[in-house]
Amino acid sequence: MSLKSIAVMTSGGDSPGMNAAARAVVRTALFEGVKVWGINNGYHGLLDEDMFEMQSKNVSDIIQRGGTFLGTARCKRWETPEGRRLGYENLKKRGIEGLVVIGGDGSLRGASLLSKETGMPIVGLPGTIDNDVWGSDYTIGCDTAANTIIDAINKLRDTASAHRRVIVLEVMGHHSGWLAMVSGISGGAEYILVPEEPYDLDAICNDMSEAYKKGKRYIMVVVAEGAGSGQEIGKYIAEKTQLDTRVSVLGHIQRGGSPSVIDRVRASQLGEKAALAIISGLSDIVFGFSKGRVVSIDLHDAVNNKKKLDPEYMHLAKVLF
Ligand code: F6P
Repeated sequence: MSLKSIAVMTSGGDSPGMNAAARAVVRTALFEGVKVWGINNGYHGLLDEDMFEMQSKNVSDIIQRGGTFLGTARCKRWETPEGRRLGYENLKKRGIEGLVVIGGDGSLRGASLLSKETGMPIVGLPGTIDNDVWGSDYTIGCDTAANTIIDAINKLRDTASAHRRVIVLEVMGHHSGWLAMVSGISGGAEYILVPEEPYDLDAICNDMSEAYKKGKRYIMVVVAEGAGSGQEIGKYIAEKTQLDTRVSVLGHIQRGGSPSVIDRVRASQLGEKAALAIISGLSDIVFGFSKGRVVSIDLHDAVNNKKKLDPEYMHLAKVLF
């Protein structure tokens, strides 16, 4: 089976490289002589019939941009079977036979339900800075976000050292400590707090006091938002240790910015694979990376399993402390 008309959309939190992925989907489809539609604003666009047929020029001048030129959203209406049925009908009306969804686990779950309930062919691409999609070592945007955090850590170290301060840096990751872990390791943080592993703040405070007595100049703590509030952790440390402590919450700056080389190349590779797969009639798969190679993952496995934080990272963080 070979499809003649497909669509692409981005959904959930934006991530740097989504544009590169969508561009690759569009250009691959056109190269194969297949019609390709863009859906605006995630699942909202499917429900509101906000979609347009794309040409190559629609994806010019976007590979270097963060965000997503298609717009994105988290869509409550998509959570109902009626909403998904309407989305399906809006696709069918235009002769669209398959859909590529670029987004995080929530967005891929919505896509999986659409496929299950209506039979609409779906190929997913993992697009989130959190790097938390099961079955893939990598999600589009995680590299750029980690580099943004590293930049902040480097700057914070300068001022922390100048003042002999403790700095607590809160980074994104409600359920996933990947960003905190890799940026903490590569930024040389003394403590990395992640939602996947319990920690003892009193013991950490005692260690900090001892370290300062021995001449330590400053301490960096990187905390994933899901492991606790940076503000509260900083306040606790300051009260308990009496060390001069400051807190930075990096926030949405982590989501933006021009994508790194890694994110651009990988997103392009994934976009090409997704387009070829959907055109050839495949469905219910997600393309990701494992050990540096593109792999396909069963869509239902990807959304029904929880990715674990690599224990080797957790061990390394302790060794390097
Ligand atoms: O899914 C990515 C993510 O950046 C999380 O790490 C963060 O908690 C969340 O999105 C915040 O998203 P928003 O502000 O768009 O609701």
